Amino acid sequence: MHVTHLSLADFRSYAHVEVPLDAGVTAFVGPNGQGKTNLVEAVGYLATLGSHRVSSDAPLVRMGAERAIVRAQVRQGERQQLLELELNPGRANRARINRSSQVRPRDVLGIVRTVLFAPEDLALVKGDPGERRRFLDELITARSPRMAGVRSDYDRVLKQRNTLLKSAALARRHGGRSLDLSTLDVWDQHLARAGAELLARRLDLIAALRPLTDKAYEQLAPGGGPVGLEYRPSAPGEAHTREDLHEQLLAALAEARKQEIERGVTLVGPHRDDLLLKLGQLPAKGYASHGESWSYALALRLASYDLLRAEGNEPVLVLDDVFAELDVRRRERLAELVAPGEQVLVTAAVDDDVPDVLAGARYTVSGGTVERA
Ligand SMILES: Nc1ncnc2c1ncn2[C@@H]1O[C@H](COP(=O)(O)OP(=O)(O)O)[C@@H](O)[C@H]1O
Ligand SMILES: [Mg+2]
Repeated sequence: MHVTHLSLADFRSYAHVEVPLDAGVTAFVGPNGQGKTNLVEAVGYLATLGSHRVSSDAPLVRMGAERAIVRAQVRQGERQQLLELELNPGRANRARINRSSQVRPRDVLGIVRTVLFAPEDLALVKGDPGERRRFLDELITARSPRMAGVRSDYDRVLKQRNTLLKSAALARRHGGRSLDLSTLDVWDQHLARAGAELLARRLDLIAALRPLTDKAYEQLAPGGGPVGLEYRPSAPGEAHTREDLHEQLLAALAEARKQEIERGVTLVGPHRDDLLLKLGQLPAKGYASHGESWSYALALRLASYDLLRAEGNEPVLVLDDVFAELDVRRRERLAELVAPGEQVLVTAAVDDDVPDVLAGARYTVSGGTVERA
């Protein structure tokens, strides 16, 4: 698929902007702080209903405005669709597809798919487990938009269970009323049900990503691998099916219960898991060099792209300011690998940062205007 027109109102720094787009490569070039990332962030929002830079919608609405609108015309094969999202921080967002408002924002998921490369990606390798969980879960949702519902169910149950545990911990410390354990049992069931579904999807995803990541790493840094992906669950065990994972989670929750009541927080479940990234026999985190860490992060994104493409509906590739971060060799290899994509959106501060194989349409971004160069 590709986006044929992007239109923003009160999104980030843009009061209003219209950007016609073609398939193939489009580069947005301009000095820092001019609004290049803001444009591709909007495309990413259509794909994930979130930003790769911030965790809430409020910063996406132009300072002083009440709501932001992201509108895009999308083409998949012969099919054209018009998507509109209205971002209302603090209130429910709204969505329209082909001008029909009988849809929820979540229904937009799956129409636009993106794989985004950004300087922040280094944190996939060097950062906290939360970065890797988000990577997995966003890809799960891109593969299967229905999982957005399971993710938000899990988050809601987790929050409520934590509230319950916290008040139990406080009560214990101050000699108050003790916790009604049957209530906790109910929450355990809810948590294990949504958790098992998420876990099953993560394990399935990692199995699919493993060979693709190794292949991509070899393409970016020949002879540098192999790389290996290993899931590190907080509830240990061998289970793979959803039913077995459900049992495994319940058993781990039972085992952790005493400690959870003492600490007032849920200690077991997909929100505490990690993805171990191995380079050769060592973990990449803490051992890989800066260049190796970059290759790894890029390999994970390229593998995501291969996977989504193989499963139909080719995603838009977004490369936000990444070429300036890379040495010449990695830069050239990455550019060659992404160049054939159906649609590739690149941002760069200067023309020279855009590799030659990515010659295509070019826009100059400056002071809130986006003009074809
Ligand atoms: N909600 C907002 N309202 C107004 N301006 C914003 C908002 N969010 C970001 N900006 C401005 O957008 C600019 C950054 O745009 P960005 O797309 O990240 O730049 P770059 O071209 O370097 O990628 C900054 O000047 C910032 O102040
Ligand atoms: Mg930027």
